[in-house]
Amino acid sequence: MFKDLRTFLGYLVTHQDLVQVDEPLSPRHEIPAVLKQIDKSSGEAVLFSTSKGYGIPVVGNLLGRRRRLAAALGVKEERLAETYEARRSNPIKPVMRKRAPCQEVVYKQGINISRTIPVLTHHAKDVSPYFTCALTTFKDPDTGMRGVGLHRIQVKDRNTIGIFLATPPLSHIWARAEKKGQPLEFAIAIGLDPITFFSSVVRAPEGEDKFDIAGGLAGRPIELVKCKTVDVDVPAWAEFVLEGYLIPGRRDTEGPFGESDGYYFKYENPVGKIKAITHRRAPIYHALMPWTTEESVLMDLSWELDYLKNLQKSFPIVKHTAMRNLGMMTVVQVEKKADEEVPKLLSFLLESNPSIKVAVAVDTDVDLHDPREVEWAIATRCQPSRDVVMRDGLPGFSLDPSAGGGKYDDIQKAFVTTTSKIGIDATRPAHDPEGRFEKIDVPPRAKALAERLVKKLLV
Ligand SMILES: Cc1cc2nc3c(=O)[nH]c(=O)nc-3n(C[C@H](O)[C@H](O)[C@H](O)COP(=O)(O)O)c2cc1C
Repeated sequence: MFKDLRTFLGYLVTHQDLVQVDEPLSPRHEIPAVLKQIDKSSGEAVLFSTSKGYGIPVVGNLLGRRRRLAAALGVKEERLAETYEARRSNPIKPVMRKRAPCQEVVYKQGINISRTIPVLTHHAKDVSPYFTCALTTFKDPDTGMRGVGLHRIQVKDRNTIGIFLATPPLSHIWARAEKKGQPLEFAIAIGLDPITFFSSVVRAPEGEDKFDIAGGLAGRPIELVKCKTVDVDVPAWAEFVLEGYLIPGRRDTEGPFGESDGYYFKYENPVGKIKAITHRRAPIYHALMPWTTEESVLMDLSWELDYLKNLQKSFPIVKHTAMRNLGMMTVVQVEKKADEEVPKLLSFLLESNPSIKVAVAVDTDVDLHDPREVEWAIATRCQPSRDVVMRDGLPGFSLDPSAGGGKYDDIQKAFVTTTSKIGIDATRPAHDPEGRFEKIDVPPRAKALAERLVKKLLV
């Protein structure tokens, strides 16, 4: 499989799933605008062979389509879910290297983040450049266990960063270190092989090492190296590594930054100092454009599958789920026997999962990944006065602006909000003697023929 970002880019070139842009564009708004445009159209990964003012290549939309995540796992897209599930339950421990490519060039003096790295300024009202593919690693001062996550990181000045630590394990490790009044060492690794990058956002119980998960998914141990100035381990083949420490007791405004929910968000967040920057020779910078398809690819597979498995234990009528817009909009595909099963399921979804704000139930003849089909089911199989469930005052998605989201709860050590919710039963009646709800289709033989023909035409 792919040991680093470069070998994966080579694969994408060979398989014509990468667009190369040779015109020198600015990391401030210009490169992000192109990433957004290509995500909305053909969807390839994009390699900017240079960047204005730096001459350093920039890559984006790396896992912007499910087919590329499948390629990173070495399987066809149809086998993505089963491959993920099988390998997710077989973690492989990382191995340590003494020397590593990510430390070919080392800066310990005169640190200047923005002069060394073409960090992108993504949106019109973003306050400054932001790292968006920053795999952040802490070591728990109590247990020595590693914590890994993907967190937005603001470049505040030449050696100061702000970090949004809203989710465990990093938010909890930091809370424990801060309680003792201790600075917390960290490392940020950027430009990774696609599986280590993906694994940083796989949902995991606290204490499970994401490098073990990455090893399992990649089918081989991930190679790590100890940092030069802090006691933290990072992927040996990273393009860039920043080493530093968080300052206890300090909070500064971080943001505004255009977030995954499509809105700007700022908050009083922890601040860190960078002591060293290391990188490979001729490094490549890796960025993610927020609120694009890539975020869904990163989150949907692990979040959906983990959630579906638990849901099916209580509701075997559920066949599949699709969680969009950070799960706030969730579609469940069901095979019901009785009409009353679906409102019960919808109430459960709204009440048990803070992220789910709109839940829609559809039948198995509806393609839940196709918004047109889901809308068709709502428009033709739902009578709002009978088929809608509403709830108020439930825990909601922490950043939802319509629910006043974005407040930190010091007791729960998390961002929380309450919201009103809606569940829509867009399934046909269990009893449909006249076949009034039968979906039209071409005969199976003609369909199979068409599939074969179109496949050939598109090759
Ligand atoms: C694109 C993207 C950006 C993220 N940014 C942040 C962030 O800025 N702050 C944060 O606390 N979590 C952020 N997360 C979520 C964490 O990485 C999260 O810990 C992870 O998705 C789930 O792993 P966990 O179960 O270990 O928490 C982000 C996730 C994704 C996919």
